[in-house]
Amino acid sequence: MFASRLRASSSQLTRSVISKRLQSTIKPVAVVKKSSFFKKTLYSALLAGSLATGLGLYSLYKEQHPVALPSAETNKTKKKIVILGSGWAAITLLKSIDTELYSITLVSPRDHFLFTPLLPSAPVGTVALESITESVSTLTRQGNGRVDFIQQEATDVNPETKTVTLKNGVELSYDYLVFSVGAQPNTFGIPGVYENANFLKEASDSISLKNKLKENLQKAAELPAQSAERKKLLSFIVVGGGPTGVETAAELQDYITEEVGKWNPELAADCKVTLVEGLGNILGMFDKKMYTYAQDHLVKNGIDLKLRYMAQKVVDNVITVKNADDQSILDLDFGILVWATGNGTRPITANLMSKLPETQTNRRGLQINKKLELLGAEGSIYALGDCTFHPGFLPTAQVAHQEGEYLAEVFKVKSEIDNAKEPATIERLQSHIQDFKYDHKGALCYIGEESAINDIRYASTKWNFMGKGLSFKVWQSAYLAMAITARTKFLIACDWIKVNLVGRQ
Ligand SMILES: Cc1cc2nc3c(=O)[nH]c(=O)nc-3n(C[C@H](O)[C@H](O)[C@H](O)COP(=O)(O)OP(=O)(O)OC[C@H]3O[C@@H](n4cnc5c(N)ncnc54)[C@H](O)[C@@H]3O)c2cc1C
Ligand SMILES: NC(=O)c1ccc[n+]([C@@H]2O[C@H](COP(=O)([O-])OP(=O)(O)OC[C@H]3O[C@@H](n4cnc5c(N)ncnc54)[C@H](O)[C@@H]3O)[C@@H](O)[C@H]2O)c1
Repeated sequence: MFASRLRASSSQLTRSVISKRLQSTIKPVAVVKKSSFFKKTLYSALLAGSLATGLGLYSLYKEQHPVALPSAETNKTKKKIVILGSGWAAITLLKSIDTELYSITLVSPRDHFLFTPLLPSAPVGTVALESITESVSTLTRQGNGRVDFIQQEATDVNPETKTVTLKNGVELSYDYLVFSVGAQPNTFGIPGVYENANFLKEASDSISLKNKLKENLQKAAELPAQSAERKKLLSFIVVGGGPTGVETAAELQDYITEEVGKWNPELAADCKVTLVEGLGNILGMFDKKMYTYAQDHLVKNGIDLKLRYMAQKVVDNVITVKNADDQSILDLDFGILVWATGNGTRPITANLMSKLPETQTNRRGLQINKKLELLGAEGSIYALGDCTFHPGFLPTAQVAHQEGEYLAEVFKVKSEIDNAKEPATIERLQSHIQDFKYDHKGALCYIGEESAINDIRYASTKWNFMGKGLSFKVWQSAYLAMAITARTKFLIACDWIKVNLVGRQ
């Protein structure tokens, strides 16, 4: 019996030894597999990180070390391109074109490119203005050819003589004109807007809004809490529920909650952000699910959302709005009014339209063909970006950017055509100029409290992300990728890290 027990226990022992052995042989294999997976992932991440850092540093170095500027003589025999503007369309073209092929002159009253997608973040200091602007002198020195920059406003274009007149009276002749002067804020002729509102279109608008915000907060801090005068100073009204208005309202509310609320909660308690929109919903370019999410999010964060209220007039510090349903009128006091009701036509654009009355019949913008040539001046004037009106092309940076890239390719072929002698070669080359095709990659909008709505398209696939976490990171990554120089990408990333560590100013 003892022997059989011993046999049983010895067989148990053998089983347990075998099983332990098995475990000990199996376990390390699993650990090895796991650890090799983590190692591989870690090494891949490190490799990708190092490559991205290396590439970023190389781009930064290259950007900051331009090649020697060729003399003006080198351009004398080349065809002349005059580009009007230093915005999305003009600068994308400049970055993509072979600058050695043409004599290029860039004319703009603005000596910098402005990365508009992050402009709403600038007045409250989420990003610095320097991080979202790039000097034209840097941008004109990125290619091997010579690009001349004239900091002037163009006042007149004569398509017949192929000349542009500048504000200082200088006249420039061109073989090809790229008309990309953008748009100006639209007030729809509503009285009192120009005199009393702030816009958010240019870098200078951000500076004046920032100063006004600082001034109002300082003045209000000296007044008794809850007083009507203090509440008026701290009432921030944004008109227009398009992406500019929504992002501006969201950034203002973030600033009140995260900065004013932290250092002076009593002052924050008297602040109020109101968003006024004439239609029944904000952000019309997104689908219902997304704009409803955005609306709920804004309201939850404390923004007073007034839908179906049309702004009627502004007198001093009071805006009158009318309800579209019951026609009731509200007079709202404000300390700051931000006007964001969309785009209007610039005087120079209206002037150009008036010179081509038979073909330029739409007051909303310049009409172009599928090769971006201005109707009525085909072959010599191209019009790009917000100054144009073309079905299916929204006035966005995305459209202007793709148009700039397309035109650079067109000019490459055109230079070959200009140098070709055989009619058959010219005809063959001309057939290479395809129509412009816009590839819509979606739309993104920041809605406050590190949340965003993203409608991302790739071919026929559509991804919708809403809210915090991943959606916010997608929004941040997309805008970092869009920033046009390595310098701005680097500074924007630093600003975001800075806000997380030490807040805004
Ligand atoms: C706050 C804000 C946020 C935005 N965010 C986004 C976004 O996230 N995504 C997106 O796709 N779009 C966005 N947009 C829209 C986008 O900025 C525009 O569609 C884009 O700037 C249009 O490019 P453009 O080159 O036609 O005009 P602009 O970029 O406006 O450039 C026009 C240029 O012409 C110059 N100019 C003006 N008058 C003259 C003249 N008489 N002579 C010579 N030059 C002249 C101007 O100084 C400027 O340099 C935003 C717009 C704003 C205002
Ligand atoms: N995140 C982004 O992708 C982004 C950000 C900003 C601008 N943009 C683009 O720039 C262009 C301009 O955008 P925007 O937001 O400045 O203008 P917008 O034209 O997109 O929106 C203006 C809004 O103002 C409203 N409005 C007009 N008059 C009004 C009034 N009197 N009272 C109340 N509401 C009134 C309109 O109904 C509209 O909703 C658009 O094409 C937009 O897509 C894109």
